[in-house]
Amino acid sequence: MSASVRSSSNHGSGLTPTNELRQVTVPEFVAAKARGHRLTMLTAYDYTMARLLDDAGVDSLLVGDSLGMVVQGQPDSLAVTLDEMVYHTRLVSRGVRRSLLVADLPFMSYQISPQQALESAGRLIKEGGAHAVKLEGGVRSADAIAAITAADIPLMGHIGLTPQSVRRLGGFKVQRDAERLLQDALAVEAAGAFAVVVECVPTELAARITAALKIPTIGIGAGPDCDGQILVTPDVLGLFDDIRPRFVKHYAEMGQAVRRAVETYCREVRDGTFPGSEHSFR
Ligand code: KIV
Repeated sequence: MSASVRSSSNHGSGLTPTNELRQVTVPEFVAAKARGHRLTMLTAYDYTMARLLDDAGVDSLLVGDSLGMVVQGQPDSLAVTLDEMVYHTRLVSRGVRRSLLVADLPFMSYQISPQQALESAGRLIKEGGAHAVKLEGGVRSADAIAAITAADIPLMGHIGLTPQSVRRLGGFKVQRDAERLLQDALAVEAAGAFAVVVECVPTELAARITAALKIPTIGIGAGPDCDGQILVTPDVLGLFDDIRPRFVKHYAEMGQAVRRAVETYCREVRDGTFPGSEHSFR
């Protein structure tokens, strides 16, 4: 089905009305901060979910390297490859009509040199169809951010708990070093990022960072004072329960719904109720 004939609801609260076939742009995303429009972001990893989330009016979708955990069943995101990110970004891009599509640069696809970072970002844009890329790190990633943004590739930063540093950090822990985090935030902005994810930071510190920056902050486990919020979609929908951080809210219990549906299907196949005559050809 083409995007133009898809049904859509107009919630009227996103950056562009959901019944308009117009993409949210990077300048609109940035301007939302001054307008006081709270930005909404969710992760997506495939076409079907991207279509649903886009239709529901989310401002931006992230193809996160969290797919290492919620799609691939690994303990962290470290083994995710650039080829895998390109593949999932391509799937998601086919379902996107209006959301700003951001794709993660995975571990070791940008740390070696600014040139490597630029080449990897270019693949997510050209082969994956992303509108922008995201990478982790503040001061230490400033050269990579500058190289990517100098090539007119919009970039979102990511500071605080950076999951690709999980081994150095010793686990997924709240980050409280205020001076270092402020330096990181300012370095990301100065290097040319259009927004920054702030992960697992105390509310007051996230508010300080948000006030210090001109670009929007997108919080995850960073309290209500960021300019927007992001969550991992399988967490939001109650589909993934391997780990449940304090900042996750289940807006649905789809894991239970799936289990119930599959149990019913199995029972109906076994007792001969399915398929009925309405599902069969004569
Ligand atoms: O990989 C990811 O999904 C992320 C978000 C949780 C911010 O980086």
